[in-house]
Amino acid sequence: MSERIPKHVAIIMDGNGRWAERRGHTRVFGHIRGTSKVKSVIREADHLGIKALTLYAFSTENWTRPDGELSVIWKLFIKFLKRDIDELHRNNVRLRVIGEVERLAPAVRAVLDPSIERLSKNTGLQLSFAISYGSRRELARAARLFALDCEKGLRKPEEMNEQVLGEYLWTSVLGELSDVDLVIRTSGEKRISNFLLWQAAYAEFVFLDLCWPDFTPEVLRGALQEYGARERRFGGLIIKGVSS
Ligand code: IPE
Ligand code: IPE
Ligand code: MG
Repeated sequence: MSERIPKHVAIIMDGNGRWAERRGHTRVFGHIRGTSKVKSVIREADHLGIKALTLYAFSTENWTRPDGELSVIWKLFIKFLKRDIDELHRNNVRLRVIGEVERLAPAVRAVLDPSIERLSKNTGLQLSFAISYGSRRELARAARLFALDCEKGLRKPEEMNEQVLGEYLWTSVLGELSDVDLVIRTSGEKRISNFLLWQAAYAEFVFLDLCWPDFTPEVLRGALQEYGARERRFGGLIIKGVSS
């Protein structure tokens, strides 16, 4: 295993529907299998020393899916929280949601909010689920909140800069971990689908052909190995013989 472990890993957990359809099942079966993979990946990320793990579970655009599929997705999320929260707590995992949490149904909030609260003092792996999340929504919201603060006299327009904008994003709660080091996407698609556009400005990307239900701890280790072999330059120059 590479010695360079990314601090913040973000995963686009894609391909549940295709995984199921290729096996002659309905799409929701893929969501069931996909959800069952989440716990072991969180555990492995923690063991590997990753500090922050952000899982893209549901986008602002995913609301356009059929009602039947949506209801299964929410049921599975509730089930995951009920079943796995104890283990997350035992492992000192901190849980957060980034996205439009206010859009979630009361039945989801009734389980999610106490789960977040229960893990709120934990200091280990910073686990975030991106739910009803869209980067464009996040950036537009940040602009609106900043403008409102200006109107209230709390800020001045000339104070806006990259750091200040970051403070208005959902990911601001992650502090210095809010920049993403590695984005992994499953399912063979090579696009970002409105995920962490700002935070992934200098992230490395690993695109995998396998679908999310086939993701395993070993696959995560493989992606980290690939990350370890990458040369991150951040626009600068690597001077031979000088390690950064
Ligand atoms: C990812 O799998 C899960 C969600 C977006 C909720 P998909 O449901 O997008 O599966 P594919 O990409 O259609 O196969
Ligand atoms: C991205 O997958 C969102 C999640 C995995 C939660 P999508 O399936 O929604 O993305 P597109 O439609 O292929 O771009
Ligand atoms: Mg998809």
